[in-house]
Amino acid sequence: MGSEFVESIESQPVAAKLSRSAIFLVATLNDTPQGLQKVRAFCADLSAFIRAVGFRDLDGGLSCVMGFGSDAWDRLFGAPRPQELHPFQEIQGVHHAVSTPGDILFHIRAMSMDLCFELATQIMIRIGSAVTIVDETHGFKYFDDRDLLGFVDGTENPVGPACIDAAVIGDEDPDFAGGSYVIVQKYLHDLAKWEAIPVEQQEGIVGRKKLSDIELEEAAKPTFAHNVLTSINDDAGNSLDIVRDNMPFGDIGKGEFGTYFIGYARSPSRTERMLRNMFIGDPPGNYDRLLDVSRAVTGSLFFVPTASFLDNVSAQAATSPETDVQPVTDQSAADAEPAARSNGSLGIGSLKSED
Ligand code: HEM
Repeated sequence: MGSEFVESIESQPVAAKLSRSAIFLVATLNDTPQGLQKVRAFCADLSAFIRAVGFRDLDGGLSCVMGFGSDAWDRLFGAPRPQELHPFQEIQGVHHAVSTPGDILFHIRAMSMDLCFELATQIMIRIGSAVTIVDETHGFKYFDDRDLLGFVDGTENPVGPACIDAAVIGDEDPDFAGGSYVIVQKYLHDLAKWEAIPVEQQEGIVGRKKLSDIELEEAAKPTFAHNVLTSINDDAGNSLDIVRDNMPFGDIGKGEFGTYFIGYARSPSRTERMLRNMFIGDPPGNYDRLLDVSRAVTGSLFFVPTASFLDNVSAQAATSPETDVQPVTDQSAADAEPAARSNGSLGIGSLKSED
């Protein structure tokens, strides 16, 4: 089944486009019952936070996607769990794709950094005592949508219905239709090494012309070109796409220049296969030469539930002393006694208890 309908009704904005700024926040959950309660209570309030901050600049296109790592899912929500949710698997190939801690991801996008920064700040005011930020990356659009290696990044992303079809779960996992999987990796570039490579050779590594962004003809592409190794098909020859929204970032003082890779897919196996092709090679040894100049320093996998799932995470469960793996969607609230239901249904209890 296509998943257009599901997306338009209730998905988080995984296919949001045209942002000039982004903040990628990866956090781990602090291991306290109160912390889990606080995060659960926050889930239902996220949409109100986005509305409140976004309303301050209606042309700013503020969006935010919240994702959960495999262990965090169990601790926060219990069963049922998304079929393909698992921790990010490290890859030891010609190069090393590390797996690093991450329980919660916030992918915040807007046309200007003030909106992203304000939303991230407000989120952390609410849940900061319950989580530890393990990576915070502020990304910016660089000339012509280029990465800091000088190549346009994002050209071959699927668009329209194909974008939704690539990123949003359909009926293969009915309990989680409308959700998505996302893999993030922070790459640091050795720019001096890259710039010492002649442009024609760089173009072979990427598989596209540097200035014009035109794809190299098949015959001119090395077998290890990035766009060869990341183009994958199913057994019937259909292309298996993902939706990327990479962002450059940097810290001039520290000499850090990089690309924050973020890829949404209806199955994490797509992105994982691309990563194996890049890090191990296809066939093994025919690896992605971008990795000779670009090192992955983080790697995490998250599940992105629908916006409706988040809206329905029960405040009742959040205020319950029992915090471990109980399912906390509205169904559990609906099954509760009427008195308990009326206590929890507004989702604002946590706002009060925080103060
Ligand atoms: C240092 C990190 C990376 C950089 C600088 C980078 C850069 C690029 C560039 C410049 C392109 C060509 C333009 C485009 O179609 O977007 C591209 C294409 C692509 N990249 Fe990456 N990329 C990186 C990591 C990754 C990773 C980790 C994956 C997947 C696991 C990936 C998947 C893809 C895909 C699917 C395409 C489109 C291929 C096609 O159909 O032509 N990239 N990337």
